[in-house]
Amino acid sequence: MGVEIYYFSGSGNSLVVARDVSTKLNAKMTPIMSVLNQERIESEADIIGMVFPIYDFQPPEFMTRFISKIKNIQSKYLFALCTYGITPGQSLKHLEKTIKSFGGHLSLGFAVEMPQNGLGSGKITKIQQEKMFGNWKARADGICEDIENRKNKKIETSILFFNLLKTQKIRLIPVFLKFLYQVSFKGLDSLAFTSDENCTGCGTCQQICTQNNIQLVNHKPSWSNHCINCFACLNWCPNKAIHPGDADLSIKNYHHPEVKISDMILK
Ligand SMILES: Cc1cc2nc3c(=O)[nH]c(=O)nc-3n(C[C@H](O)[C@H](O)[C@H](O)COP(=O)(O)O)c2cc1C
Repeated sequence: MGVEIYYFSGSGNSLVVARDVSTKLNAKMTPIMSVLNQERIESEADIIGMVFPIYDFQPPEFMTRFISKIKNIQSKYLFALCTYGITPGQSLKHLEKTIKSFGGHLSLGFAVEMPQNGLGSGKITKIQQEKMFGNWKARADGICEDIENRKNKKIETSILFFNLLKTQKIRLIPVFLKFLYQVSFKGLDSLAFTSDENCTGCGTCQQICTQNNIQLVNHKPSWSNHCINCFACLNWCPNKAIHPGDADLSIKNYHHPEVKISDMILK
């Protein structure tokens, strides 16, 4: 029995989850971006895991492309772990449907709460972060046991409003209203990434971007148009010099404390 875990992570949360599960299950870890451009994704493992963040209450768009390329998906035991900052909503149900449409079956789907790494990240306290990390560590063994025993369980989902109340994230609502106002009246382009005078042209953003979407022009980052919005450039900037436009959306640089930048950069 072999296990392979494919993962994507912008600020390290999903990387930590993938790494913890891999260590416990002695699994091979493969970054999704390192195989996504292959015609077919072939794995010798009979258990395949997927670990990724939630964007806009969905799995990232590239997950559909990834799933469509898995060879012999119908013969694999599949599990998924998404990490989320606010609420996972129906994301894992969407993933289950996508997998089904390509002939596979998602046996386990777990949603792991982690610090928010986008809008409103500045509102999450250190104590809340530590609590989330502790909750994950406490769940990890049970999840790995389910995977080893090839269990089939109900895919985890949540109802947005109840979840906001339960986790006290209701206080993020003003940030989302500001975001909606900005997008409605100034357009999405007003939130395009820019760098400020603290930028030293160190090139970290260019190195961390898995999409090769950033070039340094006159020692300043310049973004092309194939951004997947993972916020890695902003979150890993050593000078906190990158912002999505000039709106105050309570975003602070965040990355998981157990992850180093060298763990993130695709070799
Ligand atoms: C552009 C963007 C959109 C996001 N949308 C959601 C969302 O809809 N629901 C949610 O719970 N978290 C959302 N998040 C938070 C991330 O899913 C969460 O912080 C995740 O753990 C990040 O994982 P990573 O460090 O592996 O990239 C979003 C983050 C970003 C950058």
